Amino acid sequence: MQLGNEGRASLFGGARVRVFLTRGEVVLPTNDHQSRRDFPVMTHTNTRQSDLIDWLNDAYAMERSLEVMLRKQAENEEAHRAVRERARIHLDETRAHADRVAECLSMLDAKPSTFKSTTGQVMEMAKGMMTKMASDERVKDFLASYGAEYFEVACYKALIAAAGVAGAESIVPLLEKNLKEDEAMAHWLDLNVNAVVRDYLFNATPATVATAA
Ligand SMILES: [Fe+2]
Ligand SMILES: [Fe+2]
Repeated sequence: MQLGNEGRASLFGGARVRVFLTRGEVVLPTNDHQSRRDFPVMTHTNTRQSDLIDWLNDAYAMERSLEVMLRKQAENEEAHRAVRERARIHLDETRAHADRVAECLSMLDAKPSTFKSTTGQVMEMAKGMMTKMASDERVKDFLASYGAEYFEVACYKALIAAAGVAGAESIVPLLEKNLKEDEAMAHWLDLNVNAVVRDYLFNATPATVATAA
């Protein structure tokens, strides 16, 4: 049942859709009337495809930025050995994710935006320099990864939904591969947040953190 709370939301900071909040769920009603009003010249299919391409570009930039974050974690001697090892594994996966997203774009006759990915990487490097000055750097980096992986999961679920609506089902298997590995990483971080924080605060023995899966 709708409670009448209506707002505007955006996916990846891009196109806007109208959101109705209901008890325990968010309903996204069909957006056809709005597309017609905002983009009178474009067909619905074109609009959906251009949104999808825009969001794939955001996902590409996100993966390239995460490479910077994961490389920093993998090379941080102060981070727990298991965290470094898991970051190294996911760094390789993340490079493959960016390649798969680029492949999705090429299947839609588009290319990754170098502007977006370069900006993301520069911002990530600047963040890395800031956390380096903090004594609890390894905890802050862990939490940044924790949040980033769950955000990735949400993005890939959204992209899979958008691909279905835009008639681009051919890219879904590639997106699902990325989703699966990001879910696994998010799950590993979730399992280990307690141990990582305790390890930092109590200087516990390395055995308290699970080995990389
Ligand atoms: Fe990813
Ligand atoms: Fe990831």
